Amino acid sequence: MKKLAVVGAQWGDEGKGKVVNYFSRDFEWIVRFSGGANAGHTIYVGDKKYVNHLLPSINPVIDSKGFLGAGMVIDVGQLIEELKILEREFPGISSRFYLDPEAFIVLPWHKEEDLLLERMRKVPIGTTGRGIGPAYTDKASREGLKLFVLFDEVLLRERLETIYHMKRSKYNRDFAVSIEEMLVYLQGLRAELERLSVNFTSAVDMYRVFRSTSVLFEGAQGVLLDLDFGTYPFVTSGACMAHGVSSVGFSTFELDSVYGVLKAYTTRVGAGPFPTEELSEVGGLLRERGKEFGATTGRERRIGWLDLPALRYAKIRSGLTGFVITKGDVLNGLDEVKVCVAYDVDGVVKELPSTSYDFFRAKPIYETVSGWPVTDHINFLKYMTFIERETGVEIDYISYGPKTEEMKTRNDLIMNI
Ligand code: GDP
Ligand code: IMO
Ligand code: MG
Repeated sequence: MKKLAVVGAQWGDEGKGKVVNYFSRDFEWIVRFSGGANAGHTIYVGDKKYVNHLLPSINPVIDSKGFLGAGMVIDVGQLIEELKILEREFPGISSRFYLDPEAFIVLPWHKEEDLLLERMRKVPIGTTGRGIGPAYTDKASREGLKLFVLFDEVLLRERLETIYHMKRSKYNRDFAVSIEEMLVYLQGLRAELERLSVNFTSAVDMYRVFRSTSVLFEGAQGVLLDLDFGTYPFVTSGACMAHGVSSVGFSTFELDSVYGVLKAYTTRVGAGPFPTEELSEVGGLLRERGKEFGATTGRERRIGWLDLPALRYAKIRSGLTGFVITKGDVLNGLDEVKVCVAYDVDGVVKELPSTSYDFFRAKPIYETVSGWPVTDHINFLKYMTFIERETGVEIDYISYGPKTEEMKTRNDLIMNI
């Protein structure tokens, strides 16, 4: 049965939620395998817009199920808020979501710590403030809290005491929420999850189920925000590439396809290198037209032209087998469109960055191509062909609007021209 991973090929916000939601009709399970509520995945159900931060982008109207894997860091309060929003329109939908008890919890302490650390940094990363870095840090340093601890009151108290003690010693200050308050808060959340009939099932228990059915893995963020291979230290703390499916018990060799979602231009939220950033009027125009404001924080997204060296890097790092291009419609009506074809890295021309350090030193080398009035136009097809030739990855699908159905195959596009 089919296994497909959908990951961001740039710096996030490429339209993964929309793309996953479109494909979800063909899959029994939609699985988030990394990240947390730093993600903001916009989907439409009919005309109604939803932004998923933690929930996999299932299509609520169809009988698919969502799984939140062990590689995630889960803000349980936020999760319940999202479930409640969906419950209003789709009563009982919460029972279609499954949590791996091995996943880690993002505590209010982590969010406080996130903001503290940002203030301490000489150059702030511009995090989403959702506690992601501190939650993954605690995981790695063995001070994390796994979901299963919610079911053992004695262990929960013990763990909270240990975690609080460590944080207090590290920062030499008290945190806003006391241990006792945290205990009551978490017990309340657990009761709420039970009331909503959310399931707790590990990837081990799901082994046979997942292998005998279709699974769509929904990546969060984008390759260039990956902890290991993104533009470190201006990255997130989770696995943003297809290798993250290992947290759900899969090898990338078991995937039939890995789709990279690629925006027809580039955006980035937060600090860090951005070789093709366009600070001119055109950048502002694209921001307005593309509604490029963060789905999680509402911050203005930085805007730039398409960056082929970055895409070549993403292809190799994440083993992309195909692209889905989004938001070509935002460029409709421009006379000319610039594309970065190579970097000048300290005087050396590079088509493919060898390390993430190259992104910090890169000066873009541009080519200019003709614009298009609508995406069903020969010039947009030429733009796509150019991307395909330069990256060696085919664009299989084209998204031309935010709504789920605003999607077509490459062949459909050709037939319409
Ligand atoms: P994600 O984080 O990758 O899921 O992307 P976001 O949801 O954060 O940001 C993508 C934004 O673009 C959302 O507002 C989507 O509704 C919108 N969007 C997605 N695909 C398209 C498209 O093809 N055209 C247009 N105009 N908007 C799109
Ligand atoms: P989706 O899944 C875009 C960015 C933040 C910041 C850096 C670290 O919607 O594409 P963090 O809060 O994770 O510690 O912040 O990563 N970032 C995102 N940018 N889309 C996202 O998710 C992001 N998740 C994190 O802006 O620069
Ligand atoms: Mg987003």
